[in-house]
Amino acid sequence: MINLVVRDLHKRFGGNHVLKGVTFEVNGPELIGLIGPNGAGKTTLTNVLDGAIKPNSGTVYLNGQRIDQLQPYEVALAGLGRTFQVTRSFRRMSVLENLYVPALAMGRHESKAEIHGKAMDVLEFLTMDHLRNEFAQALSGGQQKLLELGRLLMLNPDVVILDEPFAGVHPRLMEIIYAYIRRVNDEGKAIIIISHQMDSIFSLSQRLLVLNFGDLIADGPPEEVKRDPAVIEAYLGAEEDEETAQPEEA
Ligand SMILES: Nc1ncnc2c1ncn2[C@@H]1O[C@H](COP(=O)(O)OP(=O)(O)OP(=O)(O)O)[C@@H](O)[C@H]1O
Ligand SMILES: [Mg+2]
Repeated sequence: MINLVVRDLHKRFGGNHVLKGVTFEVNGPELIGLIGPNGAGKTTLTNVLDGAIKPNSGTVYLNGQRIDQLQPYEVALAGLGRTFQVTRSFRRMSVLENLYVPALAMGRHESKAEIHGKAMDVLEFLTMDHLRNEFAQALSGGQQKLLELGRLLMLNPDVVILDEPFAGVHPRLMEIIYAYIRRVNDEGKAIIIISHQMDSIFSLSQRLLVLNFGDLIADGPPEEVKRDPAVIEAYLGAEEDEETAQPEEA
């Protein structure tokens, strides 16, 4: 069974104490929402979990393997994948090639034909087959988000962290992102979704984590978290402001 154990993570950028002892566990195919105000540390937590930055202290174990000192590609091999709040792709490579890269880099002994077949299936799922030979840089912001999901589908990690998957995405593409989340969850994988879009978060999540300037102030069922005075004070009370104030990429 999938098991992610995050223990007492601290991260400081100079004098800015961004993660202040973050502790939680993920067990099995949980669908978790991670919310909190701008600057709360959600993306930083993701960066620590995927190996992009090292914590000052604390540990992360995935399925029994310690991963907090690994490089991002080693973390990906261990079974944790993420998308980026500001999307990253190989801009001068085609959409199809962008999907080949992670599969080839992982060296899983799949043949090129197998990787191509998988990439074509992924593009069909994302309704992007017609874009397969376009440069990634020609895609819209929403399509770039889908391409990141495509990269995760190529790798099929046990734990997926989606950093603001809905921000700036056209409603038609939102449906595909929802379908991705259902699919991955049905396959028994764990998903952590970071979002300021409370309607989506509350309708999708089975469990909510609330990060407030480095402190995890709530962890529980959405209905409970919604009524938690500390959460209302720190974040949900300002929900409407947060949504309208979001300076997201198109
Ligand atoms: N590489 C970095 N170097 C220095 N400070 C950083 C770095 N990354 C993040 N920070 C700081 O860490 C704090 C948390 O930022 P982070 O991006 O993790 O917040 P967030 O919860 O993802 O916010 P948002 O909802 O706006 O995406 C902020 O004060 C930010 O300025
Ligand atoms: Mg962020």
